Amino acid sequence: MVDNLMDLTHETYVHTTSIGQKEIDETPVTTKTEGDHVTTSRFMDNVMPPPFWKANLRGNNLADDVPVDRWQVCHFVPPSHVMIEVGVAHAGKGGYNADPKDKVSSIVVDFLTPETETSMWYFWGMARNFNPRDKALTAQIREGQAKVFSEDMEVLEAQQRNLAKYSDRRLLMLNIDAGGVQSRRIIDRLIAAETTPQQPVAA
Ligand SMILES: [Fe+2]
Repeated sequence: MVDNLMDLTHETYVHTTSIGQKEIDETPVTTKTEGDHVTTSRFMDNVMPPPFWKANLRGNNLADDVPVDRWQVCHFVPPSHVMIEVGVAHAGKGGYNADPKDKVSSIVVDFLTPETETSMWYFWGMARNFNPRDKALTAQIREGQAKVFSEDMEVLEAQQRNLAKYSDRRLLMLNIDAGGVQSRRIIDRLIAAETTPQQPVAA
């Protein structure tokens, strides 16, 4: 799940009718680790908004038929939290840093809770900063996001089946996987620290 959320390139292929667009796949990501915090970012300038973002622009009384600057900034923090800053601003207004009147932005919160070796609870939400009291908009976003995540689930379950079937094979790591790879390294280090008994230090 962390791999999925730290590499949103899949949106182009898995979420074609909502948040996917070809520019995601065409724009490289920047990934960095600071301590236990991994950030992977992608900024797409001057692109047409996909359906989900068109609806959100309308939800904030903004034109939806004009180019936008779109961003995705994914944050992993241990043990298993991913928070993703997402949004679009009317093109040329400052993008991520645009004035609130020119943009729609949210933080997708993902609290992943392992259940067994191969299953987990996935708690998600989306905190938005535009028209927060509009209940109809909330319902519409929740419905849209649930559909997006059901698309992810189909892929994730197929991946899990493949991992089980070919457990001797190594995962292929591409450039776009850097966010997931760096997050996995932190998890591995924390697990090792937790399971390795502390050796007494000779005086
Ligand atoms: Fe997805």
